[in-house]
Amino acid sequence: MRLFSSIASALLVASTTHALDIDVSSSDSISNAAKAVAKGLMANYTGDQKGQIPGIFTSKPPAQKGSSGEYFWWSFGAIFDAMVDYQYYTGDGQYNNAVQQALLWQVGPSDDYLPPNQTTSEGNDDQTTWGFAAMTAAERNFSAPPSGSPSWLKIAQNVFDDQAGRWDKETCKGGLRWQIFTFNSGYNYKNTIANGQFLQLAARLYAQTGNQTYATWAEEVYTWAQSVGLVNEDGSVYDGAQTEDDCSQINRIQFSMNSGVWLYGSAVMANATKGSRSWTLRAQSILNHASSIYLNDSIIVETACENTDACTQDQHFYKGAFARDLARTVEAMPSTADTIKPILQTNAKAAAQVGCKNADNCVFVWTAAKNDEGSDLGSQFSALQVIQSNLVSQAKATANTSSSDSGSGSDSGSSNTSSSASGTASGTTGGTAAPTGAASLVLRLGS
Ligand SMILES: *[C@@H]1O[C@H](CO)[C@@H](O)[C@H](O)[C@H]1NC(C)=O
Ligand SMILES: *[C@@H]1O[C@H](CO)[C@@H](O)[C@H](O)[C@H]1NC(C)=O
Ligand SMILES: *[C@@H]1O[C@H](CO)[C@@H](O)[C@H](O)[C@H]1NC(C)=O
Ligand SMILES: *[C@@H]1O[C@H](CO)[C@@H](O)[C@H](O)[C@H]1NC(C)=O
Ligand SMILES: *[C@@H]1O[C@H](CO)[C@@H](O)[C@H](O)[C@H]1NC(C)=O
Ligand SMILES: *[C@@H]1O[C@H](CO)[C@@H](O)[C@H](O)[C@H]1NC(C)=O
Ligand SMILES: *[C@@H]1O[C@H](CO)[C@@H](O)[C@H](O)[C@H]1NC(C)=O
Ligand SMILES: *[C@@H]1O[C@H](CO)[C@@H](O)[C@H](O)[C@H]1NC(C)=O
Repeated sequence: MRLFSSIASALLVASTTHALDIDVSSSDSISNAAKAVAKGLMANYTGDQKGQIPGIFTSKPPAQKGSSGEYFWWSFGAIFDAMVDYQYYTGDGQYNNAVQQALLWQVGPSDDYLPPNQTTSEGNDDQTTWGFAAMTAAERNFSAPPSGSPSWLKIAQNVFDDQAGRWDKETCKGGLRWQIFTFNSGYNYKNTIANGQFLQLAARLYAQTGNQTYATWAEEVYTWAQSVGLVNEDGSVYDGAQTEDDCSQINRIQFSMNSGVWLYGSAVMANATKGSRSWTLRAQSILNHASSIYLNDSIIVETACENTDACTQDQHFYKGAFARDLARTVEAMPSTADTIKPILQTNAKAAAQVGCKNADNCVFVWTAAKNDEGSDLGSQFSALQVIQSNLVSQAKATANTSSSDSGSGSDSGSSNTSSSASGTASGTTGGTAAPTGAASLVLRLGS
């Protein structure tokens, strides 16, 4: 479908400057690389300027990146989520005001990321992508909204409540539809991204609040997806199924972001249930399977489209979302560090040296063989995520900001960090290794 244009070759020639330097054993080096890439990402953000709309990037993807000609709203939510992690990982708060403004501007009149400008095309996954940014802000104790505004946690809870109300037992015995509105194509599709993000949000809310309702939902979503065959014992996470045939035919295409979302959601549940066997096994099998299908010679590859140069500009975000969830999984399930950290290190190097020959314009492909495309927001986002994720062990444990939540933005002060961050990994995963053995299960806190 797409031939390499002369523009793409020109970019390749123009960008053969020097690769971004990175030493993954040095947190300063990782931070500096993350800063350079974040700068390239935020350079294209003008939503905080006069006359612009906070939260919206108006730049357009290059023509060869698929046909839609514009970036979608969900991807901005993913970027701001990354920028909340960015300040947490690197300590660099220079974008905090812009990020906070964007997250509050887009929240909409009912404080749940259904802004009227988006609702005619908004899907459940779009809503939770922004909901995740609010959730991350709660977990990372990001600059609290001004008083009078709901807290980050409250916003995430509102998103959850909306979605719980959309759970649909009329078809497929359960599940969320991809789309919210009947008039959108995709309304008849029940997919793993919408359901996985709902599960992950439930899991994270459970970890923050201890409210059992969230744990019950997480279990219900997982059990449903497994019963339909969307998420399987071997750890495969298929894309979705149609309501017309009651989800009897599964669309088996697999994307790294889908696996990451289910992996981290399961890992959070494993943590919040103090290492329950079922959630631990679920997380391990998804991780094992993901390591076997999205890595080509240790480099993360969007297998479903990258080898054939068919990834859309939307799909350029997936590897970054996958890296994000891998890193967060290390926090929730320290036993996965031995598997995940080498992946993040190898790929940060590849993204920096191959993908980010020009740090302002990182490209999508991290393997040397096929580094021949221009930059776009998704590629820049993915490079940022995989690089900054290497700071995960340096980061503090997730803040538990739920205790004083009262629906007001001022929830600082009486919160506490969630754990006794050192050396307390539970041993419950021992002896239950999933068959492929990618997760070594040797308990070792990342440090
Ligand atoms: C909705 O669109 C209008 C008109 O472009 C704009 O002024 C407003 O800021 C937008 N609101 C959001 C939440 O994006
Ligand atoms: C967070 O705080 C809430 C309320 O104090 C508590 O129920 C919950 O268990 C805590 N979560 C973690 C992970 O410590
Ligand atoms: C627990 O969460 C559910 C779902 O958001 C909510 O309806 C319920 O009021 C919460 N329970 C408590 C005790 O906060
Ligand atoms: C790995 O990459 C090589 C080179 O691009 C490709 O030929 C091969 O099919 C890839 N393998 C997998 C499993 O994707
Ligand atoms: C930012 O915009 C410029 C100009 O349109 C473009 O050349 C560049 O590739 C964009 N950067 C990213 C990361 O999208
Ligand atoms: C959260 O941030 C506020 C304001 O910076 C600070 O007072 C509070 O101690 C922080 N809480 C945690 C749990 O880190
Ligand atoms: C914070 O959590 C730790 C560990 O759970 C506990 O020992 C300490 O008392 C808590 N501090 C506050 C202010 O709640
Ligand atoms: C839960 O997460 C905390 C924070 O990363 C970690 O210290 C603890 O070991 C984890 N608990 C389990 C059971 O994995």
